[in-house]
Amino acid sequence: METRHLLSIKDLSKEDITLILDTANGFRDVLKRDIKKVPTLRGKTVVNLFYEPSTRTRTSFELAAKRLSTDVINFSVTTSSVVKGESLIDTAKTIQALGADFVVVRHSSSGVPHLLSEQIDASIINAGDGINEHPTQALLDAFTIRDKKGQIEGLKVAIVGDILHSRVAKSNIPCLRKLGAEVRLIGPPTLVPEGFAKEGIRIYYSMEEGIVDVDVVMMLRIQLERQDRGFFPTVDEYFRLWGLTEERLSLAKSDAIVMHPGPMNRGVEIDSLVADSEKAVILDQVTNGIAVRMAVLYLLGGRG
Ligand code: CP
Repeated sequence: METRHLLSIKDLSKEDITLILDTANGFRDVLKRDIKKVPTLRGKTVVNLFYEPSTRTRTSFELAAKRLSTDVINFSVTTSSVVKGESLIDTAKTIQALGADFVVVRHSSSGVPHLLSEQIDASIINAGDGINEHPTQALLDAFTIRDKKGQIEGLKVAIVGDILHSRVAKSNIPCLRKLGAEVRLIGPPTLVPEGFAKEGIRIYYSMEEGIVDVDVVMMLRIQLERQDRGFFPTVDEYFRLWGLTEERLSLAKSDAIVMHPGPMNRGVEIDSLVADSEKAVILDQVTNGIAVRMAVLYLLGGRG
């Protein structure tokens, strides 16, 4: 790959994405061995710099880095000098001075990973910036779809819910389209930006219409923490109109898979019966995240 950072899916070509997925396939085999560790990045240092909570992304980056034999530092904002007022750039430069080769950053403000990539030498990996992008989530989602369906080209993928605030959707839409999928967006008019229609993406405000005949249903979390006003009347109303139930899922293809990046709001965007069904690949997404993040670290190579 040409790039030293992973800031946005938009910076990756179809060939780059395919290389990452193929490389992740090899690492997945490593993760099935008794000794799940390779010396590939021994001597390198990965710093997880998370300004927002995370369960899946932070732990899977940590495991991925450890499986590649790097040293890993988990930087906790709440116990750092950030609480004394240290700026983002000063914090990042301090981490650089400690010898970080990779900085995996999550922040509530869009653009922070891009800013850091201009300020420090380490390879920057975007682990979610505001409502902008979450590129490694899209890569692990593409890996999971390809694994379950054999290919992505020609598949119909419905992305459902809070598209407006979802960095997962903003990375998945270009990723899946580059790989040849037909992407549909489903949700209330207040949460699906009309601008996507100009890019040739079909928008459905009715779940029953949008979900018909799709191969993949990708549910999104309703991000109440990013909603500064009422985008829908109540969560009960939201579930009634756009929640994924078994009845609605029966309108998709009979072998359709159900995805969710987590964390899930059961009973808000997805019924527990669906979330725990055989069609759900939600925990496979989590498992695949380790191999995909190993591939990203390996292909970026780190500073120098
Ligand atoms: N999918 C995802 O980003 O989950 P976390 O917030 O737990 O990392």
